Formats: sequence, structure tokens, C-alpha cells
Amino acid sequence: MKSTNRTPVIAANWKMHKTIEEAVCFVKGLIPLILNVPVKVYVAPPYTALHSSAVAARNSPVVIGGQNMNDENEGAFTGEISANMLKDAGAEFVILGHSERRHLFNETNDFIRRKVKKALSKKLQPLLCIGETKQEREEEKTEQILKQQLEESLGDISPEEMETIILAYEPVWAIGTGSPALPKEVQVIHHFCRQLVRQKWGADTAEKVIIQYGGSVHPQDVKELMELPDVDGVLVGGASLTLDLFNQIIHYSR
Ligand code: 13P
Repeated sequence: MKSTNRTPVIAANWKMHKTIEEAVCFVKGLIPLILNVPVKVYVAPPYTALHSSAVAARNSPVVIGGQNMNDENEGAFTGEISANMLKDAGAEFVILGHSERRHLFNETNDFIRRKVKKALSKKLQPLLCIGETKQEREEEKTEQILKQQLEESLGDISPEEMETIILAYEPVWAIGTGSPALPKEVQVIHHFCRQLVRQKWGADTAEKVIIQYGGSVHPQDVKELMELPDVDGVLVGGASLTLDLFNQIIHYSR
């Protein structure tokens, strides 16, 4: 057993998948399966299914969130979505800095920092993703990259704000490959990230902050990952699209 007071968060990132009907059906099916689990369950549907998923999840343990947002309140930003709009649709958290946003859509740490600030000011819980590419890993730059992403994406937020943030370590080279990072490596990196939080925001905050692992999490790997001392949850892509697989991940300790 792990000696921590942190309640793990298991989150589904559906990326660009699911119609409204599919999303609602999934959420309704998920609720009765998770009524007594010792973890928090988050789901990030595509924007089109956000509101109907939030309605389906009302008064249930399922927490609904967005997959991204802009840092402005409103304006001429075609295709973008604001924190207020996410909240209006029923979102309680928002994924920021996902590697697909960083690498496919060229999002910078500076832009992500402004989004984190905005989300905090609107009481939307940021779920901040960090992670190195294959090349950065091969060049042994992992720690340098993570430190830079963490410092530059978070800026000068207060310890109280930091405690509300979920960090997700998602090595880019493990996402969507079917092969998660080795548990031994994951623990080293998560411990490193918690140390960074400790140095900047103090020991109390570091003890409270949730650090998830993401990247090819499947039912067969999740138990070993979740038992690591510094892993407080998982962020799941592909395996979160199927209710049965996601449910197996949530019930990893069975
Ligand atoms: P996969 O679980 O499909 O590798 O995706 C991970 C991810 O990017 C979650 O945000």
C-alpha cells in the first residue's frame, strides 16, 4: 500500500472521438460502475459533446472537462473556446499543454502559462501535461525539458493554486504506441517532478499535488503504475474510448 493522502485521479482524454450520442451513452454507463471507487474519475469529451456529457454526469461522481481552451475571455479567435464557455457547458477541469497541442499546433509554454492563469482565475481546474519527445529523451534532455515546461507553463502561481493543479507526465514517445514507459522510469520522473514542485512551492504543496502518468495506459499495466509512490493517477487516451477497458483501468486494484 502507498502511504499518501492523495486521492488518485483517473482521467479519460477522448481527443477527437465520439459523437454526442456515444459520449452520453458512455457517461451513463460509467456512473453505476464507479459509485464506490477510491479514485476520482474525470472525462474530457470533444467540445460538441461537452454539455450533453455534463448533463448526463450531473449529481454523479463523473467529472467532465475540456481538452483545451484559449487564454482570452472572448473575441475574434475563430475556432477557439474560452474558459467561460467551457464552464457554461459544464466543464470543471481543462487539459492544458497536451503534447498534441504542443507539437501539432505549436503551442508554447508561454501560451500555456497564460491559459493556466486564466483557468485558475475562472475556477476551472487545470490538468497540465508535460513530457519529452523521443529525440529529447535520446539526447538525455528529459529532466531539462520537464523542468522548463513546468516552470514556464506554471509561472508564478501561488502554492494554494498549485495544489489545485493536476500534473500529467506524458512522454511523447509513449503516447499511442501501445508501450507505456517502464514503471521504474516513471517513478524516477514523477519523483523528479515532485521535487521541482517542492523546490518552488514548498513541501506541503508537493505532498498534495496530483501527478498522473499518461501514454499507452492499458488495463494490464495500470496496477503496477498506480502502485508507484509518486504516481497519483493516469491519463488515458485510446483505452478510455471503450467503457469496458476504462472500467478495468478504474478498478485496477481488483
Ligand atoms: P494513449 O493512452 O492513447 O497513449 O494517449 C495518451 C494521451 O495522450 C492522453 O492524454
